[in-house]
Amino acid sequence: MRALVTGGAGFIGSALANQLLKQGHEVIILDDLSGGRPITSASVPVLVKDIVEIRRFEPQSKIDWVFHFAAHFANTKSLADPMENVRVNMLGTMAVLDFCVRNDIKRLMYASSSGVYGAKEGVAYAEDMPPKPITPYEVTKYSAEIYAMDTATCTGFRFWLLASLMCMVQEICRALFVV
Ligand SMILES: NC(=O)c1ccc[n+]([C@@H]2O[C@H](COP(=O)([O-])OP(=O)(O)OC[C@H]3O[C@@H](n4cnc5c(N)ncnc54)[C@H](O)[C@@H]3O)[C@@H](O)[C@H]2O)c1
Repeated sequence: MRALVTGGAGFIGSALANQLLKQGHEVIILDDLSGGRPITSASVPVLVKDIVEIRRFEPQSKIDWVFHFAAHFANTKSLADPMENVRVNMLGTMAVLDFCVRNDIKRLMYASSSGVYGAKEGVAYAEDMPPKPITPYEVTKYSAEIYAMDTATCTGFRFWLLASLMCMVQEICRALFVV
C-alpha cells in the first residue's frame, strides 16, 4: 500500500508514518514543517508544502490511502488567528478532498477533534452525541468533517473519521488491518 500522510511530521502523523513503514508500506509525507522536523526515516519523501497546495500535487504513482492530519492545532492558536485556522483546517481539508477525487483515492482518514462535542465534564464522548463546537478550531474541524462526509457519500470513497486520540489509535489499527 502507498500512503500519503498529511501532517506527517507532527505528533500523530509521524507515529503513524513510522508504523506504516514497519508494516512494509510506502509512505509520502506532506507537511509545511511549521510544527518541526519529521521524525520518520530519512528514506521517506517529504513534500514540504502548505496543505492547500496539495491541489497542485501530481503523484507519480497511485496512492491508496490518504491520512489527513495536517492542521492549525488547537484552540488557543485558533483564537489568536481564526482566519489562518479557517484557511488551513477548512480550505486545506477541501483541497485534500479535491486531491482524493481527482486521483481516484478510495480511502481517506481524517482527524477531527473530540472538541467538536463541546466541553462535557464527566461524560464519556461518543460519536452520536450532538456536536457543539465553540472555538474557531472546533468549528473548522467540525465543518471540514461535514464536507468530507458529503464528499465520501457522493463519490463512494471510504471515509474514517477520528475524534479523540484514543479513538484514533483504535480506528487506525482497525482500518489498517481491514484494508
Ligand atoms: N494530539 C491530540 O491530542 C489530538 C486530539 C484530537 C485531534 N487531533 C488532530 O489530529 C491531527 C494531528 O495532531 P497532532 O497532535 O499530530 O498535531 P501536530 O501539531 O503535532 O501535527 C500537525 C502537523 O501539521 C503540520 N501543518 C500545520 N499547518 C500546516 C499547513 N498549513 N500545511 C501543511 N502542514 C501543516 C505541522 O507542521 C505538523 O507537523 C490534527 O488534525 C489535530 O487537529 C489531535
